Amino acid sequence: MMGRSPRAAVMLALLLLLCFLSGATARTFTIINKCGTTIWPAVTPSPSDSFGGGGFELKSGQSVVYDAPPAWSGRIWGRTDCAFDGSGTGKCGTGSCGPNLKCSGASGDPPASLAEFTLATPDFYDVSLVDGFNLPITVQPVKGHGPGNCSAAGCDGDLRDTCPDELAVKGAGGKTVACRSACDVFNTDQYCCRGKFAGPSTCPPTPYSKKFKEACPTAYSYAYDDPSSLFQCSGADYVITFCSNSKQSVCTYHNNKLVCNGSGRYLPAMSAAMTLLLLFGSVALQFSV
Ligand SMILES: *[C@@H]1O[C@H](CO)[C@@H](O)[C@H](O)[C@H]1NC(C)=O
Ligand SMILES: *[C@@H]1O[C@H](CO)[C@@H](O)[C@H](O)[C@H]1NC(C)=O
Repeated sequence: MMGRSPRAAVMLALLLLLCFLSGATARTFTIINKCGTTIWPAVTPSPSDSFGGGGFELKSGQSVVYDAPPAWSGRIWGRTDCAFDGSGTGKCGTGSCGPNLKCSGASGDPPASLAEFTLATPDFYDVSLVDGFNLPITVQPVKGHGPGNCSAAGCDGDLRDTCPDELAVKGAGGKTVACRSACDVFNTDQYCCRGKFAGPSTCPPTPYSKKFKEACPTAYSYAYDDPSSLFQCSGADYVITFCSNSKQSVCTYHNNKLVCNGSGRYLPAMSAAMTLLLLFGSVALQFSV
């Protein structure tokens, strides 16, 4: 910072503080398809200028990067076996949000595995199978820091392979394409945590929810699942991977720089400060001269 006036330094410090307090840094979301087939990710709510307007095609092995809108809260899921025409109208085997490729405000038909986010200070995120399962999802924060537990959320396995017959949704050729929740199938107070089963202390896991938990140990398997399925993290980017597992290391592009988790070389606080310095340094200088 050679030759910079004290006033510039004060301005810079103020800007930095403001940015940290308001959590104003853009969160980069990287969405990766590691499934063997094309999927159609869906995002709701979604403004027209992010997340492909709420839905897009993602071929096997492809990934996309979006900046989430500031203070965005919403959900991301995958749709399978879709056919859309040139105008973006069609239907899907699982996860449909009506007839549209771009879901904007519409939520998906269960069963669908969901990644849920509340971007704030700190961010909250989870993977939920409360509305059933259609694809393995993992959410991995990159370069995030506490307070809170910045751990990976989601699945290590594919519940379509282990779904009990009475919950299975079969597609063409009798293949299991999704697994419904026990609440959805049997609609009893016990499975839906209602009546005398309402509340976390009176709605214990069932053999069905345990099956979900086996495939996705850090996801909500039913309404009052272990609170350890809800995670908190500050200053993170997020990588959402379909058909992977939470033990894989992940990378994200942030300000045109590749940042990976688990490398041990990344000092979160330092790097966040440096990024902000680069972003706002010139702005602060302009104001002060
Ligand atoms: C963070 O969450 C993971 C997954 O639930 C858990 O294994 C780990 O013990 C938690 N860490 C802390 C410090 O709570
Ligand atoms: C980062 O990657 C490692 C594997 O290298 C994995 O074990 C860990 O859970 C990942 N951390 C997060 C926060 O996703």
